[in-house]
Amino acid sequence: VSDPRPIGVFDSGVGGLTVLREILRRSPFESTIYLGDNARAPYGVRSDDEVRRFSIQALDALVRRNVKALVVACNTSTSVALGDFRRRYDLPVLGVVRPGAAAAALATRNRRVGVIATPATVRSRAYFNAIKDENPAIEVYEHATPTLVPLVEAGILSGPEVEEAVRVAVAPLLGERNEDGEFIFPLPPSARIDTLLLGCTHYPLLTGILRYSVGDSVAIVDSATATASSLAELLSVNALEAPGTTRGTAADAGKAGHEAPAEVVIVPTHLQLTTGDVELFRAVAERMFGEAFPDVQPVELKAGLL
Ligand code: DGL
Repeated sequence: VSDPRPIGVFDSGVGGLTVLREILRRSPFESTIYLGDNARAPYGVRSDDEVRRFSIQALDALVRRNVKALVVACNTSTSVALGDFRRRYDLPVLGVVRPGAAAAALATRNRRVGVIATPATVRSRAYFNAIKDENPAIEVYEHATPTLVPLVEAGILSGPEVEEAVRVAVAPLLGERNEDGEFIFPLPPSARIDTLLLGCTHYPLLTGILRYSVGDSVAIVDSATATASSLAELLSVNALEAPGTTRGTAADAGKAGHEAPAEVVIVPTHLQLTTGDVELFRAVAERMFGEAFPDVQPVELKAGLL
C-alpha cells in the first residue's frame, strides 16, 4: 500500500524550510507542498487567537490541495494550537515541539536545557512541559528572543547586525555578567546549560552564529531531524508512504489501456507557496536547496468561517 499524495508543511515564513530539508533527506520519495505565510510573519509576537486563526487559514489551504498529512513546522503554531488542528482535520497532524523536546532531553548530560523561542511559544510553556514529560529532573530555562525571526525573514543570515542580535539573545542563558558585574538572569556559570534547544524553526538558519556565541561546550539541538523521523514513522504506521522504486513514470502507470509496469518511479514533486514576496522567498530557499526547488508560487489565504 502506498500513497503518492504530497505532505503539507506549514510555517509562518521561511523557518519551516529547515524542517522540510530534513524531511527530504529522510523521506526522499515523498512529494511536498510547503506554505509560508511570510506576509503575516512573525507570528511569535501575535496573540494566541491570531496565531490560531492564521495557522488554520494556511492549513486549510494545504488540505484543499489534497495533502495526506500535515506538518506544522512552526513552534509558535504548534505551541498555541496543535490540539485545535488535530480536532479540525481528519489527517495526521505532526507538530515540532514534542520531537524537539525529546531530542533536547536526550542531549543534555547535566540536566540543564536552555530554550530560545518566540514570545508566544515561551508564553505557552509548551517546551517546559514537553521536556519535563521526557525527564522531570531536567531544569528548563526558556528565553523569548523576538529579534531573530524578522532578520531571517528579511534574508539577513550573516553580518554584524545578526551577530549582535544573536549574542544578546543567548546571553541570559550563558550566565554572563552585566556592566555592574552581576549575573544576568537566570544562570551563574556554575549552573550553565549544556544544551541549547532552538525552539523556533527559523533559528537553525543562524546555526553558525549561534555556535560561535554559545561556544563548543553547549550542544545545539533543533526539532528538524527529530520531526522528520517522527514523520517517517507516522507515514509508515498509517500506510501513507509514497511509492518509491525504479522504472517508468507515474503518468505511464495511469494511462488508460496500459497495464501499469511492474516497477514504477514516482518522481516526487515539490511546490512552495508564499503569501509574501516570491523572490525573497526563493532567495532563502535557494541558499538552502540550491537550484533544486525552483517552483515558488504566490498564494492568497482566505479568512474563512472562523
Ligand atoms: N518559525 C516559527 C516558529 O518556529 C515562527 C516564527 C514567527 O513567525 O515568529 O516559532
